[in-house]
Amino acid sequence: PYDRKVDALLARMTLEEKLGQLQQLPWAYDTGPGGPGTKAVEEAARAGRLGSVLSIFGARTCNALQRIAVEESRLGIPLLFGLDVIHGFWTTFPIPLAQAASFDPQVAARDAEVSAREARSNGVHWTFAPMMDVTHEPRWGRIAEGNGEDPYLTAAFAAAKVRGYQGDRLSAGDRIAACAKHFVAYGGAEGGRDYNTVDVSESRLRNLYLPPFKAALDAGAATVMAAFNTIGGVPAHADPHTLTDLLRREWGFDGMVVSDWNGVQELIPHGVAEDGADAARLALNAGVDMEMTSTHLVTHGKRLLREGRISARRVDEAVARVLRLKYALGLFAHPYADEARAIGAPSARSRAAARAAASRSMVLLKNDRGVLPLARSVGSIAVVGPFGDSTDLLGTWVMPPAAEKFPAGTVLDAVRRAAPGSTVRHARGVAPQGDDTSGIPAAVAAAAACEVSVVVVGEPPALSGEAAARSDIGLPGAQRQLVEAVAGTGRPFVVVLVNGRPLTVADWVARAPAVLVAWHPGIEAGPALADVLFGAVNPGGKLPVSFPRSAGQIPVHYNHENTGRPYSPDDKYTSKYLDLPDGPQFPFGHGLSYTSFRIGAPELSAGRIAVGALREGDTVEVAATVTNTGSRPGDEVVQLYVHDRVASLAQPVRRLRGFQRVTLAPGKSRTVRFRLAAADLGFWSNDPQGEFRLEPGAIDLYVGASSAADQKATLTLT
Ligand code: IFM
Repeated sequence: PYDRKVDALLARMTLEEKLGQLQQLPWAYDTGPGGPGTKAVEEAARAGRLGSVLSIFGARTCNALQRIAVEESRLGIPLLFGLDVIHGFWTTFPIPLAQAASFDPQVAARDAEVSAREARSNGVHWTFAPMMDVTHEPRWGRIAEGNGEDPYLTAAFAAAKVRGYQGDRLSAGDRIAACAKHFVAYGGAEGGRDYNTVDVSESRLRNLYLPPFKAALDAGAATVMAAFNTIGGVPAHADPHTLTDLLRREWGFDGMVVSDWNGVQELIPHGVAEDGADAARLALNAGVDMEMTSTHLVTHGKRLLREGRISARRVDEAVARVLRLKYALGLFAHPYADEARAIGAPSARSRAAARAAASRSMVLLKNDRGVLPLARSVGSIAVVGPFGDSTDLLGTWVMPPAAEKFPAGTVLDAVRRAAPGSTVRHARGVAPQGDDTSGIPAAVAAAAACEVSVVVVGEPPALSGEAAARSDIGLPGAQRQLVEAVAGTGRPFVVVLVNGRPLTVADWVARAPAVLVAWHPGIEAGPALADVLFGAVNPGGKLPVSFPRSAGQIPVHYNHENTGRPYSPDDKYTSKYLDLPDGPQFPFGHGLSYTSFRIGAPELSAGRIAVGALREGDTVEVAATVTNTGSRPGDEVVQLYVHDRVASLAQPVRRLRGFQRVTLAPGKSRTVRFRLAAADLGFWSNDPQGEFRLEPGAIDLYVGASSAADQKATLTLT
């Protein structure tokens, strides 16, 4: 809709001004190496050699810089302000991995709406979220920022988050542009080491990594960010196959693609560009429109054009995308934030949303002998562990001022408030990291003196997120010794895990009567945890990622393919580790409740359907009845998985194709219905041009409460 205006503006721009629009520079908040100081940013804005600024926020700060661009540059083109608003601005929601555990995309949508309102009022126009990198690598720190190991679940969350950020109109004063990142296959980093090599087949690219991006773009995501990794030897920033053939030609995306931080510069150490000019050429020609942090395009663009290594048409196309986004955001009409209306703190409503999101995201891994929920009337409770009184529970990617001004509420405070009549003892026992065990006796004494203990252990947020890979994903430091010492008291206790990734728990989990995964729950960490511990909220979250038995077992995920020699405990020559049982410690989709559920066998609306009919838009309905067979109201997530028994490419043993979270009163039943279409039953071949196959044969459908569901029906495609 803005093409006329964009064309008119382009016609007035010098080449320097055009290249300037393709430059993004960082402000003071540092998220990577390099970058000029703020004075250089102001000068670039004044000279009209800057399109966007990242890591900037605050209505006053943004306006001051914007004024330079609008009032002092020749054409007065407004700047675009971007920030990593990943799971909250002031109101920090649980980390995205946690949100996925809710199996309720509305949780992500609410986070995004609250984030957009707070961020836009503070001068921010654009977030570098949602991150939708599917991964089978729990060692990778950035697993915290995504939605786990499954493309279908991730796609649902990505789309919901995009809608939450952008709403119906980007120019509305409470919306921001989303960025689908990182394009693509970043979650495939070898060994889980951040930024590492990815070598992926076309079929895996299309079946595993791409679906969330397609869903985000279908939901209207305005921008895409290129990934740091290589894809089969080609750095994603220089990959025309993914950035142009797929994204532009096949999917028709015409929004802006931004590089990651220094991603253009990094083509040099990757070993595909000779120098900065070469890096700029490769990135622009592959499909990157805006360069974040490094400055090769703005520096060398003129020469590259003169030498015919980039084209004027491609430059104009990239500039047009930047300008179109600025128009869509309403920046030409309203370049400034209303300083008087800048939101300075989380509202009670947004806090309540964050609290509900956090409790909805928690996963009850085990609960022997009904240790949970705790009775409010319990006489004494010990809160032990390094995170019992910690405010460091917000998770990765929190702006420093948000962490400082609005830290997480502690578990200790919340337990005290929830059980005002109980004696509450507290001891940390050990630090989050380090091998000092001298505090353990005090923790043991507290646990021994109380009727029940809540042991809050896990990872500090700094151990997950960007550049935070771990080779060992057990409890850091001496925390395992603490859990074992508390177990040694013989008293009932519950382990609360605060974590940014799946953790290996095999060495102590058998001794813990109850384990609750809280992830990094955000600003309302303590209150949300108390809600679940004392049963005000009955946990209903499910694992969006498998919990491995040991790091040596990685990758272990539910959606793997069979080998020619599938696991058998009795046959040595089958695919397995000699020193581990088959499968993960806790599978994808697992999570218990304080009540119990029964899920009936799936029923199909048709046992057979013609491939042609499915392709023409017919669907098959799968229905299953879920009953709350316990004595409390609670939530169950009914999950539908498919498996194509014989196909021209080996298929995953299961693929999630539907989920519904339902709340049921005791004794009540509900019939849950899923519709399966061609897109749910077919798969992408290895053809680089993109070939979606739907083949005749038997498809097994499993419905149940986790990826281990065993209620089955079979659909025949004819
Ligand atoms: O948005 C991020 C990206 O995910 C990782 N590198 C830095 C960018 C901007 O802060």
